[in-house]
Amino acid sequence: MRTKIIAGNWKMNKTPAEAVALAQALVAEIGSVSGVERVIVPPFVALAGVAPVLAGSGIGLGAQNLHWADSGAYTGEVSAPMLKGLCQYVVIGHSERRQYFGETDESVNKKTRAALTHGLTPIVCVGETLAQYEAGETGAVVSGQVKAAFAEIPAADALKTVIAYEPIWAIGTGRAATPEGANAVIADHIRAVIAGLYGADVAAALRIQYGGSVTAANAAELLAQPDIDGALVGGASLKAADFGVIVRAAA
Ligand code: 13P
Repeated sequence: MRTKIIAGNWKMNKTPAEAVALAQALVAEIGSVSGVERVIVPPFVALAGVAPVLAGSGIGLGAQNLHWADSGAYTGEVSAPMLKGLCQYVVIGHSERRQYFGETDESVNKKTRAALTHGLTPIVCVGETLAQYEAGETGAVVSGQVKAAFAEIPAADALKTVIAYEPIWAIGTGRAATPEGANAVIADHIRAVIAGLYGADVAAALRIQYGGSVTAANAAELLAQPDIDGALVGGASLKAADFGVIVRAAA
């Protein structure tokens, strides 16, 4: 039985002070919900302020990116050792980073390995563009991204990761994938690929989220699908009440 995981990716929203206020509201809203892993992912500059707000609340904290090197001449970047101790999770390979900031399958793999080396829990994002979706290329694109992300990662480490399937055409568009459609991609092109790489036991244990226009209104039917183990939520994670509804739908 896989424990569902709901993560709120705040993207480039909230000042440090606003982030603390939202985190306080979320502790009140979802701090006591049991049976579901809850994570919030504010911007880097808010992590240090939000961490003490979440302490003892049962809500986990994550970062939105990291660099694969431990330290060095990489102006503007943040490393796994810097994040370790501040937060437990890190989102890697979000489509916005692939689209706007030159993230590649290779850098996603290097970042995933760096996160695992330092005991962070990677949330590895995959997903096809609208053009790829319309061309019927979803399966090939997504399975290729999964294989590349997990290159040279042993099974024991793969088990510690979370994968997020986020079709790009569903992100921020209000057009979520259908529950059956998202479930089919996750089952046939992600979990099946993990089974091919690592065997059935790892595939049965690894958690795979859906992301893309998840709302308080559609979360329950998405999360009822057998292969959808949670959600990576953008816009709706910025409203404590909406995020609360989504978390409780997973509990
Ligand atoms: P929205 O929920 O705003 O569509 O964003 C999804 C997402 O990209 C989460 O990482």
